[in-house]
Amino acid sequence: MQALVIEGMHPLRGSVPVHGSKNGALPLLAAALLAPGRTVLHHCPRLTDVQTTMEILRHLGAGCGWEGETLWVDASAVTGTAIPEELMRRQRASVLFLGALLARCGEATLSTPGGCALGERPVDLHLSLLRQLGAEVGQQGDRIFCRGAALPGGEAYLPYPSVGATENFLLAAQGCAGPSRLLGAAMEPEIGELAELLRAMGAQIEGVGTPVLTVYPAGALRSAEHTVRADRIEAATLLCAAVSAGGEVELTGVEPSALQPVLDVLWQTGSEIRCTDSSVRLRAPERPRAPERVVTAPWPGFPTDAQAPLMAALLRCRGTAQIREQVFQSRFHHVPELRRMGAAIETDGPLATITGVPSLRGTHLQGCELRGTAALAVAALGAEGESVVTGLEFLDRGYENIKNLLSELGAAIKRVEISPDVVYNRIP
Ligand code: EPZ
Repeated sequence: MQALVIEGMHPLRGSVPVHGSKNGALPLLAAALLAPGRTVLHHCPRLTDVQTTMEILRHLGAGCGWEGETLWVDASAVTGTAIPEELMRRQRASVLFLGALLARCGEATLSTPGGCALGERPVDLHLSLLRQLGAEVGQQGDRIFCRGAALPGGEAYLPYPSVGATENFLLAAQGCAGPSRLLGAAMEPEIGELAELLRAMGAQIEGVGTPVLTVYPAGALRSAEHTVRADRIEAATLLCAAVSAGGEVELTGVEPSALQPVLDVLWQTGSEIRCTDSSVRLRAPERPRAPERVVTAPWPGFPTDAQAPLMAALLRCRGTAQIREQVFQSRFHHVPELRRMGAAIETDGPLATITGVPSLRGTHLQGCELRGTAALAVAALGAEGESVVTGLEFLDRGYENIKNLLSELGAAIKRVEISPDVVYNRIP
């Protein structure tokens, strides 16, 4: 088993580039299926979720491979339209192949991606959307069957601005014979990035950045080239790490506008923040002030994926902070682990109340999902003594080598092999 060994209380200093975005790259890889030829994604992150998506693409008959940080997909021949349950279960984003396969092949057979540590992860909004565009959608147990070549298109409505369902709309609508309009679309930056690639492929899309998206029939799409934008959640996690450990860091290759909801909260902690059009510099306060109540919400609300790292950064704040998790049913798994470090956190349903403590103690910490495990590392950077963080199989899904980034910023961090009993016999 691998673990991060972190010696806390070393202020972070320096400048690092941010990797390409996981939640940006995954829909782009599904979009690559829409056109024959080689679509090229530069600055693509090497993550296990990207690896899984490549396995799905190959299973469907597309070719794909790496050339340095560039990932290419050749979808000249798509020979399959069914994704095996085993591949579907590994990551939720595989549901995006519903829209891409419908548009390219007129049919798709997938499994429900199943629940995960964040609670139930239904796909009812995705299926309702595809039905509204004219697809035939059936379910047998966990298997989903979609049919519909040259869907009529028309009006569709989302009662909740689901990111994935909006992405599936943009993908499926490429196969519609008539114009398609979505009311209630998500507006996250990743939606804009998917639209950018689709437009480069020849798609005609209007309304990006608003809750109303319209797609017009554009004929056959062509392969294209795109540079994956910086991962705003990796950036948020690194900024939270600086608030937790202290010091001053600069992140380059980022779009500050995509980080605005996070920067607003970090500014309230007393952090000094300076931006250029492609970088963010943060100087941490001696002890962060408790920000006004933070509520996670769809864009432009505070991103739910940054909730756990932010909580970890506020454990030694001056005052009492409140974070309300409104997007997922169950996204406080990191709380019991943070309490083991001496954090004072009370939860009441979706509300977490963090009372700042003067210090935290390093200990063995077990992660059980992606952003929660990142939060444990963030907290360990601000703790006295050594921490051992496990759950790296979750961390590697969404962060490419975060150990190296933190190390470059001066953290005392190693990635080592440990025997499982070292963790399971951890001090209660
Ligand atoms: C995307 O997930 C991201 N994943 C998530 O990031 C992110 O937390 C989420 O958007 C919200 O921003 C990727 O982009 C690969 P949703 P998605 O559909 O599309 C409910 C990370 O850590 N819902 O906006 O699945 C759902 O259960 C991951 O990088 C339905 O009820 O998010 C949740 O409570 C975690 N029915 C809420 O909506 C549906 O059909 C938001 O889900 C779909 C969603």
